[in-house]
Amino acid sequence: ASLRAFNTFGLPCVATTLVRVHSEGDLKRVVNDPELGRAPKFVLGGGSNLVLTRDVDRCVLKVEIRGRKVLETREDAVIVEVGAGESWHDTVQWCLDHDLPGLENMALIPGTVGAAPVQNIGAYGVELKDRFDSLDAVDLITGRTVTLTAEQCHFGYRDSVFKQHLANKSVITRVRLRLPRPWVPVLGYLELERKIAETGNTHPTARQIFDWICEVRRAKLPDPAVIGNAGSFFKNPVVTAEQCRDIIGRDPEIVHYPLDDGSFKLAAGWMIDACGWKGKSIGRAGVYERQALVLVNRGGASGAEVVTLARAIQESVYGRFGIRLEPEPVVL
Ligand code: EPU
Repeated sequence: ASLRAFNTFGLPCVATTLVRVHSEGDLKRVVNDPELGRAPKFVLGGGSNLVLTRDVDRCVLKVEIRGRKVLETREDAVIVEVGAGESWHDTVQWCLDHDLPGLENMALIPGTVGAAPVQNIGAYGVELKDRFDSLDAVDLITGRTVTLTAEQCHFGYRDSVFKQHLANKSVITRVRLRLPRPWVPVLGYLELERKIAETGNTHPTARQIFDWICEVRRAKLPDPAVIGNAGSFFKNPVVTAEQCRDIIGRDPEIVHYPLDDGSFKLAAGWMIDACGWKGKSIGRAGVYERQALVLVNRGGASGAEVVTLARAIQESVYGRFGIRLEPEPVVL
């Protein structure tokens, strides 16, 4: 089966075995199957955080479990349960349509609900972990369903236990989102402050914030339906205060943000831009014109071309800043 339509980069790749999973029962059947049960697995959600560089001989599980419902209304929060195969953005919209604000800052993030906890998606001041209650996952060895709390998921910056020791060992089937009551808007990001200043609307509704976020993202991030990409290609590196001072000494303009523990996060996009990569290409893989942190498929690129471009960027950023950029998507 071809996976080209199942990865937002649009990279060519053939999987020997592709199983489309519609329920927990489907997963248990795979685990109990004499052949499939023993085969190494690869779990695929929306394929929006993935770089495919070769054909896959593992058994690919494409999660298509559907359904959304309000599970519980507590005094301090509403709990919404969503099937792992639902689109993330449609879920944000569904919540707003049902008068359930809280996810609006994470509008328009590509991918599925099941993939959201894997890398703890986040944007404009809100991360999945801030709106998370628990999830159900099926263990691919035992076939048993387990429920994990936020603590057990070990959420970090674009990271969780599902990117570490549970990678491809268990499949997320259902996610319970926790939307705090009363709703408090998160407006601390520069782009949102700009929208408030432009419009004079100092008390935006969740729907207004949703619309602003969509505008901001559409202005600088390519739509994967039009131009293949996997969002930010590198993580923003975290450095010590000393390293940060050192870099500022040489590059006073560098965009940096202080973190609670005294360290600093540097804007990888700024560094890549400063190295002159914006708009450049290697083969059919390129650096997006409006945001240097995003690599794009200019049409017909292979995974190898994307990786070659990524390595060249890493080398020039290391050469100039002494910082090793770490890819954000899973490279297979
Ligand atoms: N910048 C440049 N040139 C560029 C790109 C960025 O100078 O080509 C500067 C910007 O002007 C800004 C700074 O770098 O001062 C940071 O850029 P931006 O605000 O666009 O955010 P980012 O750090 O590049 C992160 C997330 C995004 C998320 C946004 C908003 C990561 C790896 N990326 O991007 O998440 O949407 O913040 O919260 O943390 C993703 O993970 O796929 C993703 C898109």
